[in-house]
Amino acid sequence: MNRVDTKDIELIEAAKQMIRARYKEGKHHVGAAVRTKSGKVYAAVNLEAYIGRVAVCAEAIALGKAISEGEDGFETIVAVLADEEGDARIVSPCGICRELISDYGQEIHVLLPQGQEEYSKTGILELLPAKYKRE
Ligand code: THU
Repeated sequence: MNRVDTKDIELIEAAKQMIRARYKEGKHHVGAAVRTKSGKVYAAVNLEAYIGRVAVCAEAIALGKAISEGEDGFETIVAVLADEEGDARIVSPCGICRELISDYGQEIHVLLPQGQEEYSKTGILELLPAKYKRE
């Protein structure tokens, strides 16, 4: 059972805090936070771009930030989207992020929105059935 625990609530809070602090219209409206196996949390924002496909997701930057600091194992990741009230709500990661997350750990859990105030926790491969394989 993938139970959402206190550490997961703290992870959501870290992602929310990041986007609250760094929100910029047309530039940063998604926050993400990843918790490493070593227990550390790394948070980041997305990079919006004038040419849409150039944009970089917050999850990718959170993973990159952690890896750049020497981390190499991840437990759980979450993304949040800023809303009009100056707060943020959990969002489901896009397909590209699902690919990326699964490449950095097939056991990584993702926190997902479930209804208004609820969250659920799912293994990344459940979000990416029949993942592409070269072999
Ligand atoms: N975005 C993320 O940061 N994470 C996702 O999982 C989905 C999309 C960003 C990328 C781009 O800057 C913008 O949101 C597209 O709406």
